[in-house]
Amino acid sequence: MNTITNLHRRKLLKYGAIAIAGAITHPVWVKAGDFVNANKASTDFNPDVEIELTQNITDIAIFEGQKTRVWKVTGKVLKGSSDIVDNNDGTYLAPTLRFKKGQKIRLILNNNLPAQSILHWHGLHVPANMDGNPMYAINEGESYVYEFEIRNRAGTYWYHAHTHGVTARQVYSGLAGLFIVSDEQEQALNLPSGDYDVPLVIQDRSFDTDNQLSYSSHMMQRMQGFLGEQIFINGRPDFVLSVDTRAYRLRLLNGSNSRVYKLAWDDDTPVTVIGVDGGLLECPEQHGYVMLAPGERLELWMDFSGRAVGSELTLRSLSFATSTHGGGMGMMGGYGMMGGGMGMGRGGMMGGGMMSVSPLPSGSDYPVIKFRVTQKEQSNATLPKVLTPITTLCMKDAQNAENPKAISLSMQHMSALLNGRSYQMNDIQPDEVMPLNTLQLMEFDNGFSGGGMGMGMMMAMPHPMHLHGEQFQVIKREVNSGSQDNYQTVAAGFVNGGWKDTVLVMPGEKVTILKPFNDFKGIFMVHCHNLEHEDMGMMRDLLVQ
Ligand code: C2O
Ligand code: CU
Ligand code: CU
Repeated sequence: MNTITNLHRRKLLKYGAIAIAGAITHPVWVKAGDFVNANKASTDFNPDVEIELTQNITDIAIFEGQKTRVWKVTGKVLKGSSDIVDNNDGTYLAPTLRFKKGQKIRLILNNNLPAQSILHWHGLHVPANMDGNPMYAINEGESYVYEFEIRNRAGTYWYHAHTHGVTARQVYSGLAGLFIVSDEQEQALNLPSGDYDVPLVIQDRSFDTDNQLSYSSHMMQRMQGFLGEQIFINGRPDFVLSVDTRAYRLRLLNGSNSRVYKLAWDDDTPVTVIGVDGGLLECPEQHGYVMLAPGERLELWMDFSGRAVGSELTLRSLSFATSTHGGGMGMMGGYGMMGGGMGMGRGGMMGGGMMSVSPLPSGSDYPVIKFRVTQKEQSNATLPKVLTPITTLCMKDAQNAENPKAISLSMQHMSALLNGRSYQMNDIQPDEVMPLNTLQLMEFDNGFSGGGMGMGMMMAMPHPMHLHGEQFQVIKREVNSGSQDNYQTVAAGFVNGGWKDTVLVMPGEKVTILKPFNDFKGIFMVHCHNLEHEDMGMMRDLLVQ
C-alpha cells in the first residue's frame, strides 16, 4: 500500500466518520449522522472567514526574570481581513476574534499540546458537533475543524477549553479568549468604537517562586473553586488602562475559574450597564455595584469626561457574604457549611486554617481594574436612551409552563452534583431530553427547599449556572428566608434583563429561566461555570431531539 492511501485510510479510521468494511468506528453515544465531517473541512461549506487556531506550549515574559510557561492559542487568518484576530501577544490570553452576524466561519483547531483538548464557543448557538462538547476532544497532533454560521446577535462571547475533567487547568493555563460579534443594529447606535471599545478579561492567577503558574487541586480548592492570589486583566498583572476624557464601552468577561466579583467604581460613580452575556440591553441601567460570576459578561458605559488628566479611578470588588448562614467572610474564606440532619449549621464548622485557601478570599474587598486619565479629548459621544430591542420570552409559550424542569445544585463529600447526578458521557436520562423547537421553563435550585437534609455535610456556595446553545432569559429570583440577610449583600447587583447564557445562583436561591431549544438537535450541556465544580461533575448533557 502506498503511503498516501495508507495515511488516508488511517485518517478515515481515526475520524470515525465513515464505516469501513462494515465497522462503525465512532463512539456509541454519537448517533450516525451527527459526526460526519465534524472535524475536517467540508467541501460544500464556503466560509466568509477562515482562521487557524493553534495551541502550543510557550514561554512568555510576565514578570522580571524567569519566563512563565503557558498554553497559548495563536490565530492565523487564512481568509478574511487580518484585523479580525488579535493574538494578545506577550500574554497567555487566547486571541480576541471579531466576527459579524451572518458570517460563515471555519475555525481550524490544531492541538500541539501534550494533552487532549477541545475548544467550546461559549454563548454561541451552533450545531451540536460544533459546540466543543468534551466527547470531541482531540489528541496531540490532531485537528478539529469547526464550521458554522454566526446566528447570534452582536455581543461579547468567548471561547475556552472544555476537556473532560481538566477544563479548569486548561483554562487556567491559557486556553480562553474573546469572541466578539457585531451586527448592523449595534453599529447603528454609534457606541464608542476602536480604541474606545475595550475588552477586559478578568482572571486570577497564582505563581510559584520560579514565576510558574501554580494551580492547587487541594480538596478545599476544588470544593470552593480555585482562587488565585493576584488579579490579571487581559493576561497582565498590574494592568492600568490609560483613558481619554470621554466615554468608553467596556466589555468585561469574568474568565476566572471560580471567583465572583461585586464590581463598583471606587468614587461611587454609579455603574452604567449597557449589555450582558448575549449582547446589548434594551435600555441602559444603573447600579451601585454589579455582580459578575465566572462565565458572565457585562458591558459598561463609562464617561471619563470632566476628570482631571492624571487622575485615577478603580473598579473594585466590594465585600459580600458568600455563605448561607453564619460568618460570611470569616475564617472560611466565605463559604458556609450546612450540617445535614441537624439543620443549618453555622459557618465555621470546619474551622480555621485549612479553609483559608487564598490570600485574596472571594467576597473580600480588593481592586480589580485601574484606569488612569492621560489625555484630554473632545467627544460628543452620548449614552443612547434606547439600545437594541429584545423579544421578551413568555411563560405561556413554554411547553412545560405548568411543570418547570427543576435542576437542584448540591455539593457534598467530594462531589458537586446536578439533580444528584455527576457528569458522565453517554448517560442521558429521560428528564434530560429536550424536545426540539420548544421553550422550556427551568429552575436552578441552590438549596431553596432546604433539600439534602440528613445527607451529611453539605456546602452552600454560589453556582454560576451555564447552558450551551441558545441564550435564555431570567424570569424570577427567589431566596429562602434563612439566606435573606446574606443575599441582600449582592441582590442589587444582578442584571436580570437581556439575553443570558450564565446566571449566578447564590446560596439559598432559586432562579427561574426560560430557555429555548431551537434549530439544532444533539447534545448541549448544562453546568456550573465554577470550573472546579464543573470538573468535579457538576455538569450534565442535555439531548435535544
Ligand atoms: Cu463556558 Cu460549557 O462552558
Ligand atoms: Cu458554554
Ligand atoms: Cu458551582
